[in-house]
Amino acid sequence: MSEGGAAMTEQSVRWGILATGGIAAAFTADLVDLPDAEVVAVASRTEASATAFAERFGIPRAYGDWDALARDEDIDVVYVATPHSAHRAAAGLCLEAGRNVLCEKAFTLNTREAEELVALSRARGSFLMEAMWMYCNPVIRRLADLVLDGAIGEVRNVQADFGLAGPFPPSHRLRDPEQGGGALLDLGVYPVSFAQLLLGEPADIAARAVLSDEGVDLQTGALLSWESGALASVHCSLIGGTATTASVTGSQGRIDIPYGFFHTDSFVLHRDGRDPEEFTAGPADGPRGSLKHEAREVMRALRAGETESPLVPLDGTLAVMRTLDAIRDRVGVRYPGESPRETGEPELTPA
Ligand SMILES: NC(=O)c1ccc[n+]([C@@H]2O[C@H](COP(=O)([O-])OP(=O)(O)OC[C@H]3O[C@@H](n4cnc5c(N)ncnc54)[C@H](OP(=O)(O)O)[C@@H]3O)[C@@H](O)[C@H]2O)c1
Repeated sequence: MSEGGAAMTEQSVRWGILATGGIAAAFTADLVDLPDAEVVAVASRTEASATAFAERFGIPRAYGDWDALARDEDIDVVYVATPHSAHRAAAGLCLEAGRNVLCEKAFTLNTREAEELVALSRARGSFLMEAMWMYCNPVIRRLADLVLDGAIGEVRNVQADFGLAGPFPPSHRLRDPEQGGGALLDLGVYPVSFAQLLLGEPADIAARAVLSDEGVDLQTGALLSWESGALASVHCSLIGGTATTASVTGSQGRIDIPYGFFHTDSFVLHRDGRDPEEFTAGPADGPRGSLKHEAREVMRALRAGETESPLVPLDGTLAVMRTLDAIRDRVGVRYPGESPRETGEPELTPA
């Protein structure tokens, strides 16, 4: 299948990999382990890197440019694993050429770019999904179902954080404004996405950050609020290894997720007046940290002829992007080439 959206049968889904960095290798290692997935091509900005990656994973076709991959009709879906700053260009090229796309988080630099990709995929009837693997984790799905079923009553508060000690030198992509660096887009996207999985898009947002000399956020804290009275406090950092836990408090109880909440294999449910209940991943859920859940979800959706995943809906991705934009607006992080309007700041009109 090469036309976006057409239903597939049980044959292997043929993947193309765009970029050859850290997460591209981790995802490809999981893909080659899936019996119904086939990695048929890889593209890099350089031929040498594409060839080395292809040899490492036994991939038949290696391209030294993205365009050749995008135009390869024998690819069912392309996995985009460039830095965020290149997601719009890389995913857009693939969608324009009729490919389906799984695109790494943060989905794009800003909402405008995300809207463009979503409009493109919808116009072409192609499949598009943000690689928000947390939303495909069966333990997180179970937690969300419990919360939405009212296991802890009405949600009052969410707390979530993700911080890495680093240190990340100024040359690292996480410190580079040209590559969409900063804690928020790389790490903060998880706490924000977690809060929005349970509460939807917030009504109001306050935020503070510490910026680097390069102008990216080294650490950011944000307070999200909803009309219901719920509050979420989210934190991310490139300069401190935080607990990286999450908790959800409701009117009748609380759920705690331990370290590594976004790829957890357990959580504890405290219902008022009852003993704590621990929920853990079952044997069928696979090892902790597996990227296979999101790969399986993409392949399930493609076989079903779906153009977006119900687990990672595009409207949810857009809502997260709006929150990330609003937080950046509050703390003054703007990427090269962005206009004030793109981070929500009022446009100045000449007198
Ligand atoms: N899901 C997860 O758990 C997870 C984990 C880590 C990262 N990520 C996301 O995945 C993306 C990549 O992160 P990473 O850690 O893999 O980064 P990385 O190791 O720096 O790799 C990124 C790759 O993109 C290509 N690239 C580098 N600079 C580029 C540029 N300026 N323009 C276009 N392409 C460029 C390079 O591949 P070529 O040399 O082949 O072109 C590079 O190897 C980010 O959006 C990040 O947020 C997700």
